[in-house]
Amino acid sequence: MTAPAEAPIIEPGEFLTAEHRIDPFPLYRKIRDWEPVYRDQFQNRFVVTRYADIWDAYKRSREGGDFTRAVYDPKGRYEFGSESPLGPTILEMGEGAEHRWSRGIVAGEFVGRKLLTWLPVIEGTAAEMIGRFSVEAAESLAGGLAGRGEVDLVSQFSQRFPIRVIAGMLGLPREDFDYFEGIYNTLFAGMGYGRAYFRSAEQAKIALHDYLTPILAARRADPTDDLISKFVTAEMSGEMMTDDQIKAFVTLLLVGGGDTTHKAIDAMWWNLLRHPEQYEAVRARPELMDRVFTEMLRFDGSNHYQQRRALRETELGGRIIPMGASVALCLGSGNRDERVFRDPATFNIFREDLYFGKELRTGYWKDGVASHLGFGQERHFCMGYAMARQEAVIASTMLLDVLKNPRLKDVPNDGIVFPPPGKGGVRGLLHLDIEFDL
Ligand code: HEM
Repeated sequence: MTAPAEAPIIEPGEFLTAEHRIDPFPLYRKIRDWEPVYRDQFQNRFVVTRYADIWDAYKRSREGGDFTRAVYDPKGRYEFGSESPLGPTILEMGEGAEHRWSRGIVAGEFVGRKLLTWLPVIEGTAAEMIGRFSVEAAESLAGGLAGRGEVDLVSQFSQRFPIRVIAGMLGLPREDFDYFEGIYNTLFAGMGYGRAYFRSAEQAKIALHDYLTPILAARRADPTDDLISKFVTAEMSGEMMTDDQIKAFVTLLLVGGGDTTHKAIDAMWWNLLRHPEQYEAVRARPELMDRVFTEMLRFDGSNHYQQRRALRETELGGRIIPMGASVALCLGSGNRDERVFRDPATFNIFREDLYFGKELRTGYWKDGVASHLGFGQERHFCMGYAMARQEAVIASTMLLDVLKNPRLKDVPNDGIVFPPPGKGGVRGLLHLDIEFDL
């Protein structure tokens, strides 16, 4: 598709339409072509849509750079955590020593060899949950309730899977898993809009913190090999985490690692089932599931935007950004930039212009091969990137065995969408109904 010769009119209201919620890509394309750093007057922000400009903004968001992620007011007028039901977490920090310490003291648990020690938790949780829905499907078939295997992958598996993995890693008693999941659901609902939701999420946060108090005390007295024991004993530069910091981090783990990972699994299957030849290739060579994860994050990953703020008047993509202005890095658009990816609107796990190697915090972009932007880049690069990949790839590979001859059930589905108004969460499927042979 070539761009029209005459500049189209871009209305800020286009970001808020029902069509955009489902398919934002035509608007992204128009902006990339005609006003790549777009002044959105409705939401009072600059939307950055080209891969190169997003890359540039990330590189200039290091300490002393032109942009920051800090949402709090460095002069102290903003109370840290006051606008999030999560309370103060690393997500509100900018760059620099405080952020480096808060991230550094826990980040090692989620990558490399330490991550490998958690694989039995991931595998065990996936096997148990997948086993459960396949038994239910077999019983429905035997009882004449269904003529074939059926599952809504979202409600019967993916939505709950990452939360139960986190509960297992934290070392919570199994009988508490449902309670923990319930707290997560209320907390999560508060990530939408409206004071009522915010208040009930704050209550859930308080309940979670209260629930954790005796567990932290027990692990401090008698550490085991679970994640809470690692947190209470971790030390960096002679300092340890306070109970409040650990509780805030557990809350963040739930919210940052739950919805994103569940939607990653759903999107992998949605894309595979709509591309039968790629599904067959993965079936024949399950190690290709890693590629499915990577291409899924490029094609339509869960996080389309990351927020930054200009620390001084500066130029980005040929546009002057005033000091203090809000800048939305549109990862969803950068990942579809035809200046970087050939035929970007096609899902293709065999594409040669995408970097399929292990994610790099500083990104990869040379010789016509570029990283996806789905985990961000640089200082705030997703801390759970390797864990999310392991969860999604392990679970999806197990699903390959159980879902024999899978096909999308013939029910209406808008596909991968931004959450409906008032509902929190990242972009993804709301349900995914699959039929399969037993
Ligand atoms: C496919 C799943 C996931 C996606 C797409 C995703 C995406 C992202 C993105 C785009 C950022 C960058 C934020 C920014 O630039 O401001 C981020 C940060 C973060 N993610 Fe993830 N994430 C995923 C899974 C996880 C998991 C499983 C965890 C927990 C282990 C996690 C924990 C975090 C944390 C703590 C940060 C903040 C890092 C910092 O500010 O230094 N994420 N994630």
